[in-house]
Amino acid sequence: MRIDLLTVVPELLASPLNESILRRVQEKGLAEIVVHNIRDWAEGRHRQVDDYPFGGEAGMVLKPEPVFRCIEELKSQRVYDEVIYTSPDGVLYDQREANRLSTLGNIIILCGHYKGIDHRIREHLITREISIGDYVLTGGELAAAIIADSVVRIIPGAIGDEASALTDSFQDGLLAPPVYTRPAEFNGWQVPGVLLSGNFAEIEKWRESQALERTRRLRPDLLEDV
Ligand code: ADE
Repeated sequence: MRIDLLTVVPELLASPLNESILRRVQEKGLAEIVVHNIRDWAEGRHRQVDDYPFGGEAGMVLKPEPVFRCIEELKSQRVYDEVIYTSPDGVLYDQREANRLSTLGNIIILCGHYKGIDHRIREHLITREISIGDYVLTGGELAAAIIADSVVRIIPGAIGDEASALTDSFQDGLLAPPVYTRPAEFNGWQVPGVLLSGNFAEIEKWRESQALERTRRLRPDLLEDV
């Protein structure tokens, strides 16, 4: 899949998308993440990307022309399944939406901007608005990085251990059970004996009951959905 990210602050996206699993996924050719600086599509000596809002409010608003030019150029090169805008007004992001996006071919994510973006972009270009939570960030870049990360890591083959992404918290509507590694005893605290037993049926039963217990205790709202 290919993800095109449009921003006026590309520096904010470079590091989170080019390390660790995300870098490896791109090196393996499973996903391509391309960051575009909207300023490259702006005109004039100052390459202005934002301007004062009509009606006299505070803050700057992203201008429509460079965004339309950039997205129209991308659309002339390939078909996009979604053009996403990151904004606190959007639908709340969750694992179900990450799973859905990971099945798509190409997506564009337009990062939100200080006071907002010219509404004509939202009306005529954007197909989906996504919020990562009920709080306000300075811009949409971190939200876009979170979306790209959560989508790319579940593409089949992205994580070495094929089963791993499927056993994440939320994939079965439950929080993940606790995990332990060596040493089996640390500071006098023992790893639960069942994990050392070699009895995989018992281990699986223990994991399921732990997942259910943690979900009941920490996120009972998740159980109301099922
Ligand atoms: N931009 C600013 N706040 C945001 C949020 N909560 N989610 C997505 N984009 C945002």
